[in-house]
Amino acid sequence: MRMIDLIIKKRNGHTLTQTEFDFVAQGAANGTVPDYQLSAFLMACFLHPLSDAETAMLTKAMAHSGGRLDFSASTQLPKVDKHSTGGVGDGISMALAPLVACAGVAVPMMSGRGLGHTGGTLDKLESIKNFEVRIPAKLIYRQIQKLGVCMFGQTKDLAPADKKLYSLRDATGTVESRPLIVASILSKKYAEGVDSLLMDVKYGSGAFMQKLEDSRKLARALVHTAKLLGLKCRALITYMDQPLGRAIGNANEMRQTVQILKGNKILAPDFYELLLQEATEMLLICGKYKDAQKARALLEAKIESGEAAAKLREMIKWQGGSPRAVDDPENYFQNAKLSQTIKADKNGYVAHIDAKTAGMAGVLLGAGRNTMEDEIDYGAGIWLYKKAGDKVKKGDTIAMLYASDKKRLKDGVTLFKTAVQLSAKRPAPYKIVKEIIK
Ligand code: URA
Repeated sequence: MRMIDLIIKKRNGHTLTQTEFDFVAQGAANGTVPDYQLSAFLMACFLHPLSDAETAMLTKAMAHSGGRLDFSASTQLPKVDKHSTGGVGDGISMALAPLVACAGVAVPMMSGRGLGHTGGTLDKLESIKNFEVRIPAKLIYRQIQKLGVCMFGQTKDLAPADKKLYSLRDATGTVESRPLIVASILSKKYAEGVDSLLMDVKYGSGAFMQKLEDSRKLARALVHTAKLLGLKCRALITYMDQPLGRAIGNANEMRQTVQILKGNKILAPDFYELLLQEATEMLLICGKYKDAQKARALLEAKIESGEAAAKLREMIKWQGGSPRAVDDPENYFQNAKLSQTIKADKNGYVAHIDAKTAGMAGVLLGAGRNTMEDEIDYGAGIWLYKKAGDKVKKGDTIAMLYASDKKRLKDGVTLFKTAVQLSAKRPAPYKIVKEIIK
């Protein structure tokens, strides 16, 4: 087989076979196909979008370009994971994985790092001192067998073709192709060896897709392709025009997670609601529960009894951190050296806090990165004392911003102020989960 023939075939709008996609993915992973040919191939796929069947074939080919996790010897429980398309303040995963594991399913959760205004679960977990996310497969199997939950990063060996193709898409104007996005996301999940998957596809200013209709199309394509691959899958379309919860920034978000898993429901009602809805869906998708109300009641009971917090404590211990982080979050997590309050300059309501601007303010404060090489300040971030719909009086604290450097704090404050809109009238409430795609 020759790569030039496959490029021409796709350029002319023809359908490729599994063997041909395997050739491309293997060539991307082991370097036998040069970047210029892979780039031309990606552009051909962009101009002649892959059919659903082709998307599934490319996904499989990319997933098989490296090793796949296989939990068959470690657990007979259903194996379920969640993927979020990313957002601001979206620290759901750190609460979700231990909570769902308490319900008697296995949760091997593979996550990524933050870039730009979007945070990353691995960075948040690493704000726990010594928490290890680079875990060899053997230890992931063992932790899943003994504890039912493990949170880890993508190993070099997992879907290496995606790594190569994704970096070329970035440089060739082919990122926006929906079939390529679907294959990229699902190849990693398919390689992870789970049988059930919840997709959280966000829409709004802080999301990968800003428009609801685009998120809907992506969600449908993800669910459809996942099913073609034999995965059980549903997607939630969720709101990301404003930050989720009260915390932005790594240690801040971990503190919030700990409080919520310890039963503080009112700390961040939107976060709590999304957590419960996602956890419920995960139990329904994998078939552990048939009745949503029963599943939700069980999950709430796991929080109230302290079992969910205990699971988080154990997971932290298994992965090298101190379980004390759960008992003493205020003092345990890193704090930034400086802080500044943002106050309301008039009476009224908080009308809107723009997610993307708030996320970018977080990056300026030091909580995120502009390039993958940037260092993170785990203590930097934002705590939202007020959210959209809250009444404020002039001088009330809307948010507290944290940084470890004067210039960073000043820049973050200046940008964050532009994210906040006050109004005389109470804004209409928004729904955190817009739709479920089955
Ligand atoms: N996330 C991914 O992993 N891949 C894409 O192509 C887009 C978002």
